[in-house]
Amino acid sequence: MKKITKAVIPAAGLGTRMLPVAKGIPKEMLPIVDKPCMQYLVEEAVASGITDILIITGRGKEAIEDYFDYNLEYNTKLMASGKEHLMRELNAIADMANITFLRQKEAKGLGHAVYCAKSFVGDEPFAVLYGDDVIVSETPVVKQLTDLYHKYGLGVAGVKAVTPQQIVKYCSLKVEPIEGNAYRVDDMIEKPSPDKIFSLFSILGRVVLPPEIFDILEHTPRGAGNEIQLTDAMRELAVTKGMVACDFVGKRYDIGSKLGLLMANVEQGLAHPETGEAFRAYLKELALDL
Ligand code: UTP
Repeated sequence: MKKITKAVIPAAGLGTRMLPVAKGIPKEMLPIVDKPCMQYLVEEAVASGITDILIITGRGKEAIEDYFDYNLEYNTKLMASGKEHLMRELNAIADMANITFLRQKEAKGLGHAVYCAKSFVGDEPFAVLYGDDVIVSETPVVKQLTDLYHKYGLGVAGVKAVTPQQIVKYCSLKVEPIEGNAYRVDDMIEKPSPDKIFSLFSILGRVVLPPEIFDILEHTPRGAGNEIQLTDAMRELAVTKGMVACDFVGKRYDIGSKLGLLMANVEQGLAHPETGEAFRAYLKELALDL
């Protein structure tokens, strides 16, 4: 079976839950301590063996392209001041993988954003990293998923159990255990009413898909929110061919929500070698008055 080397990162959404900041800065570029969220995603993909990444962007998202490029002004300045090591560090961000960009001309939904990657992907299985889901884990989650793809030869969805309050806003999966943290998926439903919930397992931020998904997306109509939903296409894939769910090991942050971004910054600020110690002391003192 062909090794999975391509990944698509959809980042063209309007980010209405992150207004007003999303009006000026793509939410995918908001920082967790000192790195934009998008860098966490690219690093996860690269650590999983991905060599080619297509980032789906849209109007107002130019900051993403600039970030994964050399910055000649910085390079000149850093060279002149003897900080070549810093220059190399900055350039390494651009050299992590073959990163290309494509504009989704209209934010018609995640399914449509993935469909835009059709010619980049060609006839290969590929990974999708949702641009506003940062996952911190020892074994990168994309690697956890591609390992299962190679084992079962079926599309793999990264899942986690969410609360009954959350599941009605997410998608719910019909699952049967296979082994360990792997489940067989036969059906799924986006934003189920309480009587339609299959399980509390929902897809959170990572999937590995076979190229057949493009044939399905081609005829997937607009669904929830009047958007072309990737879940609707994956449902057809699950019903016709079957999919696998991977209850992944990792801490996921929904940085497309204000609370999610705050939680990511607190936890990663505590874990960061430069800020951890002082930040812990600060939080302890602050907590006395909470
Ligand atoms: P979301 O549904 O979380 O993003 O999509 P959104 O539409 O920007 O969010 P809100 O509800 O308005 O706050 C998950 C990922 O898919 C991308 C988003 O940028 C996000 O990273 N996406 C979404 C696209 O690339 N294109 C779309 O049409 C929709």
